[in-house]
Amino acid sequence: MTTADSRAPRYARVLGTGSYLPNQRVTNADLAARLARDGIETSDEWIVERTGIRARHFAEPDQPSSELALHASRAALEAAGVAPDEIDLIIVATSTPDMVFPSTACLLQQKLGIAGCAAFDVQAVCSGFVYALTVADAMIKSGAASKALVVGAEVFSRILDFKDRTTCVLFGDGAGAVVLGASDTPGLLASQLHADGRHVDILCTPGTVSGGQVLGHPLLKMDGQAVFKLAVGVLEKVARAVLDKAGRSEADIDWLIPHQANIRIMQGTAKKLKLPLDKLIVTVDQHGNTSAASIPLALDAAVRSGKIRAGDTVMLEGVGGGFTWGAVLLDL
Ligand code: UT7
Repeated sequence: MTTADSRAPRYARVLGTGSYLPNQRVTNADLAARLARDGIETSDEWIVERTGIRARHFAEPDQPSSELALHASRAALEAAGVAPDEIDLIIVATSTPDMVFPSTACLLQQKLGIAGCAAFDVQAVCSGFVYALTVADAMIKSGAASKALVVGAEVFSRILDFKDRTTCVLFGDGAGAVVLGASDTPGLLASQLHADGRHVDILCTPGTVSGGQVLGHPLLKMDGQAVFKLAVGVLEKVARAVLDKAGRSEADIDWLIPHQANIRIMQGTAKKLKLPLDKLIVTVDQHGNTSAASIPLALDAAVRSGKIRAGDTVMLEGVGGGFTWGAVLLDL
């Protein structure tokens, strides 16, 4: 590299996207029938009206997050035209890792048949993918990495309490991935991350492993209304902060991809940002809430359907347990 090159600004761009959904598709009616066997009442009508969810996918019992991540990664690498051994950084965002350790990123690295590059997990629940993208962007800009594989992968079906109708109808499994590459033109324009640990209790899976046993409650618990209220406020604020940082305005956003948890929160955010609803990418109806996988799954679906095209400006927004939230603005 010449001296002039080393002074040139360095940015991160999306080179390709990929995603994977496990085969088992579970409709609201399927789920209602399953819960009814335990005397628990729910209905397609309630789930659609309150959340917008119509179906979700569940992984097989022997399919861990790293396997879903592998399928999504292969698709992203192929779309990017990048070979696995060109990757010099792997970040996996997950709250449902295969093991306590090693990281799901190291397990993915092994499955990809590569070795040597940095690989680690990011745990920020449903904000995990925007956290992971922000870290990868910083590492590319600093020169620490040149081609990064950033993945969101989850098997939330493993931590759902199927006796709790207020949560088990909401979540699904899946994975999404992007390959980021160093570039002399901006791709990722700006990002901002937040957390507020005062709200750890409103969305948590508070179990742990100790002395060879699971201690505490190993299933997801959520105060849905508390999460809803916080989410609506922070999503608007962080989107505006990121637009400010990038020197852009709402009118510059071609597509909004908020975390896919509830259509009412997503549409509320679009309205607050004065965006027409046809700029909102919606996959929550078919995927449910796949936590850290929801944003890259939605991004890949929109890219592959031809909705999002090269050159479009996309706002990604995560929000979830921790409490965590954040946004990334990028030119594709
Ligand atoms: O991924 C991180 C981000 N997570 C989120 O963004 C989730 C945010 N929260 C939400 O999306 C919503 O709060 C929920 C979808 C979880 C709940 O919607 P809601 O409109 O806040 O409903 P609610 O909790 O106020 O419950 C209304 C009623 C209750 O009955 P009563 O007390 O009014 O008789 C619930 O017991 O609906 C009942 N209910 C159900 N009924 C049928 C709750 N879950 C169900 C269900 N089926 N699955």
